[in-house]
Amino acid sequence: MTDPESTTDAPRTSNVRPASPAEAADVRAMHAANRSAWDEAAERYEGWYDEAVELIRGGGSNLFPVEHDLIGDLHGRCRRAIHLQCAGGRDTLSLWNLGADEVIGVDISTRMLDLAARLTAATGAPARWVEADVLDAPHELDGTADLVYTGRGAIIWLQDLDAWAAVLRRLLSPMGRLVIFDGHPAEWLFDADEDGRWVATDYDYFGGPEASKGWAPEYIDRLSLAEDDQSWKFARAWTLGEIVTALLGAGLRLERVAEHPVDWWAGHRDIRPEDRGRVPLSFSVVATRGE
Ligand SMILES: C[S@@+](CC[C@H](N)C(=O)[O-])C[C@H]1O[C@@H](n2cnc3c(N)ncnc32)[C@H](O)[C@@H]1O
Repeated sequence: MTDPESTTDAPRTSNVRPASPAEAADVRAMHAANRSAWDEAAERYEGWYDEAVELIRGGGSNLFPVEHDLIGDLHGRCRRAIHLQCAGGRDTLSLWNLGADEVIGVDISTRMLDLAARLTAATGAPARWVEADVLDAPHELDGTADLVYTGRGAIIWLQDLDAWAAVLRRLLSPMGRLVIFDGHPAEWLFDADEDGRWVATDYDYFGGPEASKGWAPEYIDRLSLAEDDQSWKFARAWTLGEIVTALLGAGLRLERVAEHPVDWWAGHRDIRPEDRGRVPLSFSVVATRGE
């Protein structure tokens, strides 16, 4: 995803540090910082707009085959799909193409939702976009989602998993299903050496939230805003234990938890072919309301 039109040529700095105790204690302030950072990063998604229009107009889906297997054919069995942390709406409208009658995307970034609204206008999709912190997903949506879908780089930005899991459950209709497909926390622990072999990073798996500026070039590449001028953002690799425990704690009934080698953001392309597939890079959960 290198972009020849990028305007910043400054060398990348290492703007990564553990969140201070005061920062880590303030969930809402970390989310507000993430909102600013994602408004900045939306610039890169805007560059993918034409591609997204073509995909959605052509009836296509941006989701991986493993996600299609988890979600299944939605025709005739999904009146409403709610996509949490929907970004520019490409994955949300993929759910429409998979058969959902109506899709609703929730995201904290105004600029991402502006992009999603443009995508709706260009495709005529029956979509609604809700600007909100996921933790504040509007109560008028409670109990209405035949599918709640989230993932692909979503959970790492959230700093209160119990509150998040409670939202997932309250949005589900009585027969609704939750499908999560997201990055596996183990992928923070491994990277490629210069020969393309897996080596351990110095990431602290149990270290809690990390503050950073700048983005992985494989994903966002350079923005027109220089790295030092970008907003601090807060992410963490929640362990699978923490994620599953939060879902169970909310009362959800887990039907399936699986780990996958799928390199969902192409962040590990440098691994030599014979070593791919040895490390879990993504995971999935399928659950119901559990009443
Ligand atoms: C990596 S994207 C999610 C994946 C998305 N499917 C895509 O197309 O790339 C992360 C999204 O989460 C959103 N986000 C981050 N924190 C959020 C929060 N607390 N509430 C709602 N949205 C949030 C960001 O604005 C961003 O659009």
